[in-house]
Amino acid sequence: MKASRAAVALLGCTAFTASAAKRGHDASLRSVARQEPDTACGKGFDELVKGSKDWFATASVELFRHPGRTTDNATYAREFQCWFAHMCTDRCGGLPSQAATRKPKLTAACQDVKVDWMPVWSMFTTDEVKYFKKEFPSKQYDDEDEGGLLTNSKVSQYREKGEKEINYKEAMETMKEVDKKELLCMTAFAIDDECVKHSYIRLAK
Ligand SMILES: *[C@@H]1O[C@H](CO)[C@@H](O)[C@H](O)[C@H]1NC(C)=O
Repeated sequence: MKASRAAVALLGCTAFTASAAKRGHDASLRSVARQEPDTACGKGFDELVKGSKDWFATASVELFRHPGRTTDNATYAREFQCWFAHMCTDRCGGLPSQAATRKPKLTAACQDVKVDWMPVWSMFTTDEVKYFKKEFPSKQYDDEDEGGLLTNSKVSQYREKGEKEINYKEAMETMKEVDKKELLCMTAFAIDDECVKHSYIRLAK
C-alpha cells in the first residue's frame, strides 16, 4: 500500500516533467526523472488537505493580476502546485511569519503590475533566501557557490535561456524564470500565512 501511494505521488511529480518534454524539451529528461528518487514536490499537491488547496486556489487568482500573466496560473499550474506542495510538506522550513511587518508592503508589491520581482525578493529575510535557494527544485542552485547565498542579487545571475545546462527540473526552472515575481510572492505569502493555516490568501487591507 505504501509503495503504491509513493508511486501515485511520484506520478504527480513526473507529470510536469512529461509536459515540459512535450513543450519541446529533450525527451530523455523523462527517463532521468524516473530514475531519481524525487521529493521535489513534497508529498504531492493531491495529498494536501483541502484548506491548503483552497489557499492555493485563491493565491492563484490574486497573484496573477498582471495583464500578461493572467493565464500563467493555468500554464504553470503544475509547477506552482509542485513548489507549494513542497513548502507544505516541509512546513516552509519552519520559517516564522513576517506578516506583522511585511504584509502591507508585500501585498502592495505583489498586486502592483508595475513592480517586478526584485522588490519582492529584497523583502525576503536571509533565512528565507537560504531556504528558497536550497529547496526550490532547480538543479542550478546546487552549482552555486556558498558565498553567494546571502546576496539577493545572486538570483539575477541565472543563465540566459538557451545557455542552461539540461536540467531534469527544466519545467520548474522555466516557471521560475517566467513567473519569478509570482513565485516569490506566493512563497512569501505562504510563509506569512503561517505556512498556510488559512483557506485563503490573506492580503493586507
Ligand atoms: C488566473 O488569474 C486570473 C487573474 O487573477 C483569474 O481571473 C483566473 O481565474 C486565474 N486562473 C486560475 C486557474 O486560477
